[in-house]
Amino acid sequence: MKIGIIGAGAMGSGIAQVAAQNNNQVKIFDTQKEALEKADKKLRKTLEKLTAKGKFTQEKSDEIIANISYVNSLNNFSDSDLIIEAIIENLEIKKSVFQKLESIVSENCILASNTSSLSIASIAAACQKSERVIGIHFFNPAPIMKLVEIIPAIQTVSSITEQAKNIIDSWGKITVLAKDTPAFIVNRVARPFYGEAIKMLEEDVADAATIDWAMTEIGGFRMGPFTLMDFIGHDVNYPVTETVFEAFYYDQRYRPSFTQKRLVEAGYLGRKSGRGFYNYNENAEKIEPNKDTRLGNKIVDRIVTMLINEAADALYLNVASRDDIDLAMTKGVNYPKGLLQWADEIGIDNCVDILDELFDEFHDTRYRCSPLLRKMSKQGKTFYE
Ligand SMILES: NC(=O)c1ccc[n+]([C@@H]2O[C@H](COP(=O)([O-])OP(=O)(O)OC[C@H]3O[C@@H](n4cnc5c(N)ncnc54)[C@H](O)[C@@H]3O)[C@@H](O)[C@H]2O)c1
Repeated sequence: MKIGIIGAGAMGSGIAQVAAQNNNQVKIFDTQKEALEKADKKLRKTLEKLTAKGKFTQEKSDEIIANISYVNSLNNFSDSDLIIEAIIENLEIKKSVFQKLESIVSENCILASNTSSLSIASIAAACQKSERVIGIHFFNPAPIMKLVEIIPAIQTVSSITEQAKNIIDSWGKITVLAKDTPAFIVNRVARPFYGEAIKMLEEDVADAATIDWAMTEIGGFRMGPFTLMDFIGHDVNYPVTETVFEAFYYDQRYRPSFTQKRLVEAGYLGRKSGRGFYNYNENAEKIEPNKDTRLGNKIVDRIVTMLINEAADALYLNVASRDDIDLAMTKGVNYPKGLLQWADEIGIDNCVDILDELFDEFHDTRYRCSPLLRKMSKQGKTFYE
């Protein structure tokens, strides 16, 4: 197929590599010439490494490079079958690009956006043929992360959704279907992983090192929430939380924290600036966690139950199917197991009890139990047979 990629940054260059690896002819456009040059250099370096490791033959690596061309105008996209936009996260700019594209591409070209936070409906609205616009949301780094969320807008026709899904499946990715709602599946359901951890830190339930220890050693997560936030960077993670909070009409479940905001304001952005929740300077004292198993279990139960509540609510509100929600969290953010499967293991009754206890304690609507969990508890149902 002929694939067009707009934006040669972190996401665009990664998506181009995935498409090229799968024998498609790929063209990438970026308004910054340097971004194209950087993408080309980065790809060559990556392929060199992968070839040295034996992941690709030299022939395959040459083929991938030959499959990609770097172009200096959108007009080069006239013969594209699918275009994936991965430019700056700004609705007005994205809309103007989609509008322009429509005057260039053929009738049958699918127009997709890799946006993380904007509504697909608003981007599609910029097009006359809005029924061919869809969200195709890759995760970073695109060549490594298996999950891709497919997000039809209310304008999108089902044949486009099917085609988009088939194409991305054929690239060896795992696709899940998400409703065009804020943060789609992964970035919505994952909010309590950060938010509830910070809230417990603020309440002095435990320090960051102890919460991280509990979540990795007892919970089985690959990284603890504070290590992960420091790794992502608070300048990236905090604005996402703020955007999601606004997009959900200030639902308290998604409330950002002053603690994280202060880190951003202080320039303590995490690993990249040498300091975040942790101090990464060479001489910094290493903080030892309190490995009290009872405390650890309490931490894990609270964060995991909040995650389960979010997953259950996403199912209740038809954001995605049971299987897609569980797949999204295991393949998109490497959770040790699907949250709905985890709910069955913990017991739906127990999840409801933990949430109700938190609600009783705080009288904060962030702890309201999903109606689905409550109903299932009353009926003695489980998510899986
Ligand atoms: N970085 C992530 O983790 C991640 C993950 C999933 C989705 N996304 C989404 O992907 C998109 C791109 O993110 P990124 O991290 O790759 O950004 P980035 O800043 O690394 O790259 C964006 C590129 O777009 C180019 N650009 C800006 N305006 C343009 C225009 N009008 N036409 C052509 N090129 C233009 C820039 O020059 C830049 O090279 C955003 O919508 C973001 O929300 C990002």
